[in-house]
Amino acid sequence: MNNLDKKENCLTSSASNPRQNSCYEKDAKRSLIWPPPQASPKFNPRLNLGVMASGNGSNFEALVKAIQNSQLDAHISILVVNNPNCEARRRAQRLGVPCVIHNHREFSSREELDKALVKTFTKHAVEGVVMAGWMRIVTPILIAAFPNRLINIHPSLLPSFRGLDAVGQALKARVPISGCSVHLVTPQVDDGPVLAQAAVPVLSSDDHQSLSERIQRMEHQLLPLSVALAGQNWRNEAQN
Ligand code: GRF
Repeated sequence: MNNLDKKENCLTSSASNPRQNSCYEKDAKRSLIWPPPQASPKFNPRLNLGVMASGNGSNFEALVKAIQNSQLDAHISILVVNNPNCEARRRAQRLGVPCVIHNHREFSSREELDKALVKTFTKHAVEGVVMAGWMRIVTPILIAAFPNRLINIHPSLLPSFRGLDAVGQALKARVPISGCSVHLVTPQVDDGPVLAQAAVPVLSSDDHQSLSERIQRMEHQLLPLSVALAGQNWRNEAQN
């Protein structure tokens, strides 16, 4: 069987269940990021960012590392967390990023919490805000304060699998490809213009943990380059 035959055989036999085909599994490590990563743009002055996180904070750390490695020409002025005991807060301490807690339990409504967020980010004069695993629904108060400047990361190829447990939704739907998206935030949850996406193959051997981990590895690449893309738009807007 020549290579083309092998490929065709692979494609045909995969038609019934692509996730059970070993030819595809050999390609599993290949993920696609689009738009493709380019040389990181320089900003003068560098981007001044605020970040929001609720839990583990690995995406927050990916942003800090991208800044340290000169992949993202930015500075994080402030991390806001809503859970005092979250790992994101400990990461901020370790990485030397200022962190404040706005504990949602201490606010009477989502709007009041968002007013506090706006106040904090305004105080730090940030030009954009990254929701790096913020597990609260945001209101028009925050969105209107940062029009086209509020960014969210979501573990699916939007518009598929919005909302909670996107990885579980993808597994349940038995899709052969899932991934992650970075998008501008609009009032509809997990909606808004997509800045960039990464496609991640779903393997027959995947469980929730293994797929989540593979998607997260792509998130850590996707988020910094998406922030750079957004930053270019912000600076172009400012010039016109
Ligand atoms: C990420 O998977 C992100 O897509 C979602 O929340 C998760 C946060 O992970 N919005 P971490 O806290 O950055 O590790």
